[in-house]
Amino acid sequence: MLQATGLEIRVGARLLMSDVSFTVQPGDTVGLVGRNGAGKTTLTKVLSGELAPTAGSVHHRGDIGYLPQDPRAGDPEQLASHRILEARGLAGMQRRLEIATEEMGSDDPDRAKKAMARYSRAHDEFVGAGGYAAEAEAATIAANLNLSPDVLSQPLGTLSGGQRRRIELARILFHDAPVMILDEPTNHLDQDSVVWLREFLRTYKGATIVISHDVELVEHSVNRVFYLDANRHVIDVYNMGWRHYLQARETDEERRRRERATAERKATTLHEQAARFGAKASKASAAHQMRARADKLMAGLESERAVDRVAAIRFPTPVACGKTPLYGHNLSKSYGSLEIFAAVDLAIDRGSKVVVLGLNGAGKTTLLRILAGVDQPDTGAIEAGHGLRIGYYAQEHETLDMSRSVLENMLAGSDVSEVEARRILGSFLFSGDDVHKPAGVLSGGEKTRLALAGLVVSGANVLLLDEPTNNLDPASREEILRALATYEGAVVLVSHDEGAVDALSPERVLILPDGVEDLWGRDYQELIALA
Ligand SMILES: Nc1ncnc2c1ncn2[C@@H]1O[C@H](COP(=O)(O)OP(=O)(O)OP(=O)(O)O)[C@@H](O)[C@H]1O
Ligand SMILES: [Mg+2]
Repeated sequence: MLQATGLEIRVGARLLMSDVSFTVQPGDTVGLVGRNGAGKTTLTKVLSGELAPTAGSVHHRGDIGYLPQDPRAGDPEQLASHRILEARGLAGMQRRLEIATEEMGSDDPDRAKKAMARYSRAHDEFVGAGGYAAEAEAATIAANLNLSPDVLSQPLGTLSGGQRRRIELARILFHDAPVMILDEPTNHLDQDSVVWLREFLRTYKGATIVISHDVELVEHSVNRVFYLDANRHVIDVYNMGWRHYLQARETDEERRRRERATAERKATTLHEQAARFGAKASKASAAHQMRARADKLMAGLESERAVDRVAAIRFPTPVACGKTPLYGHNLSKSYGSLEIFAAVDLAIDRGSKVVVLGLNGAGKTTLLRILAGVDQPDTGAIEAGHGLRIGYYAQEHETLDMSRSVLENMLAGSDVSEVEARRILGSFLFSGDDVHKPAGVLSGGEKTRLALAGLVVSGANVLLLDEPTNNLDPASREEILRALATYEGAVVLVSHDEGAVDALSPERVLILPDGVEDLWGRDYQELIALA
């Protein structure tokens, strides 16, 4: 059970929400929704105890399993499987078992004997804690999140951002805490895993709060909806599933519009009457009363919801370049003994649109990092054609300097003036003091917008985009896709988002790990969500 009472949350000078109260019970799966930057992530930090509210309190019984929106570090030396088991305190026992097993093979009989005794103690403890069953459960969860035994046996430090995040998700789901809070859990999941997760959430016995821009997930899993209204700074609680919520909210907004129209009409009438009376001294107090009544009518209304603003974004004409600005020859990459892909050749022509397809772990992000020059291939090389200028959008926003401000991030690595940078930031919804925020405090969607704004000023003629629509609310996503559709430069896109691929209308597809190229076609379209 989780209970929030009279919460007020401010960040810097901004009020995010005030007087928010709710209770979440076992069996509840709450969808927490609201536009980018509304304060969803900040609220979950308060609920999980990471951040103190400015007023009010949070109570909960038992542990909270919390998956933050930004993947958390964890010890890079720790094995992935241990990271998961650790959630139920099993990793330590597991490790003692492994060490004892190793020492049992020692040539020194005394040492081997002691190890055997330790093994036996650790084993009893492990069994007592439900170790084997739990281990099997953890393995099932990991498998459903498409984490292979191969990946689980690696240290965290060698895993890709997407794999790290899936390990964290597996860990939280395995934890089985009475309260679970998930911030954008589907960002790195393939379609099969998403389908599995929906069902897992729907039947979870504890109390769950989930933030997701994945409509199908909330539609399938959620039995209550909390709508965080960034304009009114409140949470509207809807005790119903997603479809009913959409209708109910529509009805609520319609009612507010009607109430407002009626009140305005009455107030206008009162004011007109007061103006007529006001001319005569004998009716001055009646006029005064009428004005006071009109003011009261208007004060009782909520201010009209500012329609959630969306920027009109346009990628500018790219700087001129040769016919084929980017080549890759014979590219291979392995991590340790794990070969990701081998002998990939590719040529990106001016203005061409290419989609990179491949299952999770097939090396899509790795290939983009190599093309961007962030990582080096094990074999082969990247060759820049005449006039190449690359714009790289990294899945985890690694290209942003989190300690520098929004504006400084824009000015670094481009030669635009501050005035121009501010103008472009404005169209990406950063206005006024927002531009001085350190990038590190931005919301997930805001980081995505800042990284994309950086591409706009770069004048790039080849964009490398790694899941650019993750974290975006529907309105911002539409706008980004519209801009992408009219961009004149070349694009290499990695995305699970069918709409994003549609918007790009690619001519070609590069399939990993084999590295074969093909013309784009319907069959591939169906693969996107599955990949
Ligand atoms: N320490 C801080 N200082 C200033 N502003 C902050 C700070 N932390 C968060 N913010 C701002 O508070 C707002 C809410 O952020 P939050 O991350 O909670 O949004 P969100 O609803 O989770 O958005 P998204 O859907 O993009 O993930 C954002 O505008 C963010 O920039
Ligand atoms: Mg967030």
